[in-house]
Amino acid sequence: MSKPTLSKVVVPAAGLGTRFLPFSKVVPKEMLPIVDKPAVQYIAEEAVASGATQMLLVTSRHKESMEDHFDLAFELEAVLRERKKERELEMLSRLSQLISVAAVRQQQPLGLGHAVLCAKPWTGGEPIGVMLPDDLLEAPTPCMQSLWECFARFGYAMGVVALMEVPWEKTHQYGIAAVEHVDENVVRIRHIVEKPQSNPPSNLAVIGRYMLPPCIFSELEQTGRGAGGEIQLTDALARMLEAPGLLGYLFKGRRFDTGDKLGFLEANVAFALKRPELRAPFLAYLRQLLETEF
Ligand code: UTP
Repeated sequence: MSKPTLSKVVVPAAGLGTRFLPFSKVVPKEMLPIVDKPAVQYIAEEAVASGATQMLLVTSRHKESMEDHFDLAFELEAVLRERKKERELEMLSRLSQLISVAAVRQQQPLGLGHAVLCAKPWTGGEPIGVMLPDDLLEAPTPCMQSLWECFARFGYAMGVVALMEVPWEKTHQYGIAAVEHVDENVVRIRHIVEKPQSNPPSNLAVIGRYMLPPCIFSELEQTGRGAGGEIQLTDALARMLEAPGLLGYLFKGRRFDTGDKLGFLEANVAFALKRPELRAPFLAYLRQLLETEF
């Protein structure tokens, strides 16, 4: 039998995006540009770099633009061809062939766990990667690939989540894990709690990448409403601690929370500085701004 590979990723993008109102009233926050690409495109690129070939967007009303973004733009491409805009044409053609995209609606925002459950019929019983589009991650090896490698190394059975240290005063915003080290990068999770209001078991937070075996769905089906009255993915993960077990991969790269105003601005600065054509003029602008403003 051939070795399993990561093929399917689920991108829950049906949240209300209240931190980005009024922008997110009719335009999905996943379409916010980081320089010149929407946030969700970076997620698709990480998925592809990690080996995935299919992506399911869990969406809600007014979010069709995300699907359109990955579709073939026939008329636009025809005009670009006519005008001999070869570079732009090539860019759009690569984008529409990047990954196979499907979408499912989450009719009510009942929580991240419920959004993932909406993906069940699409997964066909295969393990899935789950990638939150708010979390823009940068590392030499794509985070989703590292999770897959960990999932494979431990026999394709245990769930794996990405973990990162956060300041203690911010632990109430995250799923927080108590862990035992397996090696330098991998831990076994012994306890996990969503948005602890007091006594967090550690400052290791679950960030937006998960590699989940198919049993996640039966756990989600039995998970009631948790923090904030929502069906929480973390609560379903807590049900997997004993069997089949839950691992944490300690992510060491850079993370930007693009669903948060400050994180979004930081991501734009960091990614603009990585662009050769923007770096020098943008740095000059930033220097001038710092000199004149402060
Ligand atoms: P968040 O906690 O960031 O919520 O969801 P949100 O609605 O997106 O944004 P704020 O906090 O109101 O500003 C984490 C991820 O889970 C998805 C979101 O789209 C986001 O990617 N999600 C959340 C759903 O798909 N459905 C839900 O019911 C809740």
